[in-house]
Amino acid sequence: MKSRPGGGGTPQKTHPGGRGLPGGKEFALQLAGPPYFSAVTVLEVIQRSAEFLARKDVETPRLQVELLLAHVLRLPRMGLYLNFSRELTPPELDQVRELVRRRGTREPLQVIVGSTSFCGYEMMVNGRVLVPRPETELLAECGWTHLNQSGLAAPAVLDFGTGSGCLAITLALKCSAARVTALDISPEALAVARQNCARHGVAERVQFHEGDGFAALPPGAEFDLLVANPPYIPTAEIATLEPEVREHDPRLALDGGADGLDFYRRLAAEAGAYLRPGSLALCEFGDGQGPAVSAIFATQMWIVERVQADYSGRDRFVVLRRGAGPRVA
Ligand SMILES: C[S@@+](CC[C@H](N)C(=O)[O-])C[C@H]1O[C@@H](n2cnc3c(N)ncnc32)[C@H](O)[C@@H]1O
Repeated sequence: MKSRPGGGGTPQKTHPGGRGLPGGKEFALQLAGPPYFSAVTVLEVIQRSAEFLARKDVETPRLQVELLLAHVLRLPRMGLYLNFSRELTPPELDQVRELVRRRGTREPLQVIVGSTSFCGYEMMVNGRVLVPRPETELLAECGWTHLNQSGLAAPAVLDFGTGSGCLAITLALKCSAARVTALDISPEALAVARQNCARHGVAERVQFHEGDGFAALPPGAEFDLLVANPPYIPTAEIATLEPEVREHDPRLALDGGADGLDFYRRLAAEAGAYLRPGSLALCEFGDGQGPAVSAIFATQMWIVERVQADYSGRDRFVVLRRGAGPRVA
């Protein structure tokens, strides 16, 4: 969860588009160009904006600008390369200037453009949900592989802390037999998740519940698979994270308590009551938390099958089998 890809002139004057030069003097200077009404090409915008973002310590500044510009021009990113000498219209320039200004404040690119890709599916995001991370895609893949090999006619899945709904919706899309229940304490996150669900046409098979952990679930709920990417950042560490995370991801999505492990203790103690014996649980965790998370589950009714690394080679989630202990709801 912590990682994230992520001339001169007369700045006070307005250009022929008429909306002035939003974005502050520094950036206005970068894009206004001499004189203010002169044409600015795609290549010039990329170069000047990338310099601006580099000064704001934004990682991969040129890539970021290209993605923002492609969004404004409704082109695939590679299409920019075929249009380097195309001049931006004043409204386009206004729009890209505003988006680059926002990126310069370290607002995440995905929030600025309002969506991200998760397992190849477009997910709407805003500042009220965690931006789905590529690390979580492997957990999703492990989940749908298990569901499709389970032989169950209608496997029941629980997504604990659904956020944008990325895991719940992807599992529903990848396993057409699955019935998915997703919970979150944040009504704003659930609003986003519901929109994503409708957009992907799986609303009939995904139910959302608002509440604090398992208390959100209806009585008698039981599942064959649990997926969870809970908040896992130790409280004091949040202030040390990149601005994109500490200032723009919802605190509720980050804060895992004093040692970051509060939610694993809750899951280890409470989840068994909602899972059928033999079910699987996949829980994502933060860098270096694998041994502590495994130990928490091992002391309860769980069998730790394996710890799975992500594509960058870092241990990222634990695969747990619910032991044969009694279900005590
Ligand atoms: C790290 S985010 C994960 C979001 C999404 N599953 C993903 O992988 O991108 C954790 C989510 O847990 C939710 N959450 C935090 N505390 C919770 C609680 N006590 N009960 C239920 N959900 C909670 C947050 O609102 C947030 O959406």
